Amino acid sequence: MKHIYQQGTNAEAPVLVLLHGTGGTERDLLPLAGMISPQSSVLSIRGNVLENGMPRFFKRLAEGVFDEEDLVLRTKELYDFLDEAAETYGFNRRNLVAVGYSNGANIAGSLLFHYSDALRGAILHHPMVPRRGIQLPDLSGVPVFMGAGRNDPICPPQESEDLEQLLSEAGAVVNLHWESTGHQLTGSEIDAASAWYQRTF
Ligand code: MLT
Repeated sequence: MKHIYQQGTNAEAPVLVLLHGTGGTERDLLPLAGMISPQSSVLSIRGNVLENGMPRFFKRLAEGVFDEEDLVLRTKELYDFLDEAAETYGFNRRNLVAVGYSNGANIAGSLLFHYSDALRGAILHHPMVPRRGIQLPDLSGVPVFMGAGRNDPICPPQESEDLEQLLSEAGAVVNLHWESTGHQLTGSEIDAASAWYQRTF
């Protein structure tokens, strides 16, 4: 997968895996990594799917309606790429914290929904429930920060509450942070995610 890898100064710190929103690239979230964990190595990945020229991490049939078959396939593709990148760059595969926004948060959520060992933790900015009606793996103790907007038209509050519940039932330790705004990623949400990260890792 197209990506940028930046070696950090602390090899013990979690490697941040950055996953952009629809229409973004692997450059978009690089500034976030510096705010969350400046000493971490960073693996920032571009989604392999194009929707009218806009990169994404999996196909959708309509706004908010995911192509489940493609989602499962792309989730495995990303999981395998993380394995490969750990070999290539020599980082600890078990020490990855995803930072995703919107579609990137949804594929990070899908990694959690399908694999117990894909991520050590995750920061999900405005995620949705990636799939419903499946048994989640054991996510005991996996820390997850979720940022949601009370007025987010793409990801209504119920969606965030459902995701919080599903992840918690699987054992994840979820911190759901609310903003009064819509789908955009605000400075105060980033500050809350950074503060959570400092407390957690
Ligand atoms: C998705 O398709 O993953 C969600 O609708 C969020 C987005 O617009 O990217």
